[in-house]
Amino acid sequence: MNVDLLILNAAQLVTCASGGRPKRGAQMRDLGIIAGGAVAVKDGLILDVGATADIRARYESAQVIDAGGRVVCPGFVDCHTHVVYAGDRLDDFESRILGKTYMEILAAGGGIMSTARATRAASADELYALAAGRLDVMLHNGTTTAEIKTGYGLDIATERKLFDVIARLDREHAMTIRPTFLGAHAVPPEFASANAYADHVIHEMMPAIFAAYEQSNFAAEGVPLAVDVFCEDGVFDTVLTGQILSAAKERWRQPVKAHVDEFVNLGGVRVALELGALSVDHLDVTPDAELELLAQSETVGVFLPAVNFNLGSTHYGHARKLIDAGGVLALATDLNPGSAPTPSLPLVMAIACRYQKLLPAEALNAITINAAAALQLEGVVGSIEPGKQADFTILATDDYRALAYEFGALLVEKVIIKGEMQWNASF
Ligand code: NIG
Ligand code: FE
Repeated sequence: MNVDLLILNAAQLVTCASGGRPKRGAQMRDLGIIAGGAVAVKDGLILDVGATADIRARYESAQVIDAGGRVVCPGFVDCHTHVVYAGDRLDDFESRILGKTYMEILAAGGGIMSTARATRAASADELYALAAGRLDVMLHNGTTTAEIKTGYGLDIATERKLFDVIARLDREHAMTIRPTFLGAHAVPPEFASANAYADHVIHEMMPAIFAAYEQSNFAAEGVPLAVDVFCEDGVFDTVLTGQILSAAKERWRQPVKAHVDEFVNLGGVRVALELGALSVDHLDVTPDAELELLAQSETVGVFLPAVNFNLGSTHYGHARKLIDAGGVLALATDLNPGSAPTPSLPLVMAIACRYQKLLPAEALNAITINAAAALQLEGVVGSIEPGKQADFTILATDDYRALAYEFGALLVEKVIIKGEMQWNASF
């Protein structure tokens, strides 16, 4: 049979196969590796997976990639990013080096608010060009699917502009995109209190954003618009978080998620679990009892250890606890100008392996099949199985563990999305 693309002779074909389910507990150590493996691709989808001799006997193609001596993985899935913003936070970076904390800078009107000022002043075309450039660099680091949040507008017009930029990225960029509305990212100075701003988000901003969503390519394709809140001391407490997420769920019938326990444990995990959240993200100071509760649920626990690293912290969330309790764990970059200016999931793996004691196999499942589950995409991306999108990241190494081991290396050699080559470092 003639197919569109064959990838043959992979030293390791890392399938992350799971039968369309996220992985838990000891399953996280299993990558479903086929030594000398091969894949056949047709119409942008994976048609068949197996030993090279079998695939070669069944299929022929005008396009063949010999992956001899290489690792072939599923394309990486970054399930938590804030790529649409203008400006930078280089001054904050220096202030932190000189001793100020992240939350002190935010409380003084810097931090997220300074990015919001720059983002409000930028045009949609400028924001699109900046974000598309960031997606390109993520892609060169092996990412083929990304979640992108609004949240640097904090007023209706700018949040709408950010949503439109995300919808345009989905139409025009090769990467698969999943959108999230994060109007409740900080309390802008135009509002006297978090209560007043949360009220505005629920009653005015969400209707405007969901009206735009209904007209967008996302709604046309049946892609949901998730709703997120920064649940943190000095930002949105658990009562306001519950009100915003309940409105998203009940009035707009959309999935919800939350930034919880980045600095202070407020109990955000319980609120999110009651609402059946897709994911709870950060989890840096979540007590073990709450991680155990999370482990009993379908909600994905997303750790973002590039944040701890970037903020110069020596404290990391108890990722090991969540895996050992049988929960679904994912890792993501949190790419944003303040707390995590990195496009690299391999770097995130490297940090998680060292400071959170994940094995490289666990970290690789956490940026593929389990990250896909955090976006309700576990049946579509995140593993190399027949019927899934033909997204692959090919590494210039014959052992997948090098991805976490050689931090700062450039091991990503080729990136293929829906069967099309999008990056080839060996050109
Ligand atoms: O996930 N914590 C809140 N939001 C982002 C940081 C955003 C920023 O600092 O610009 C985060 O860490
Ligand atoms: Fe974030």
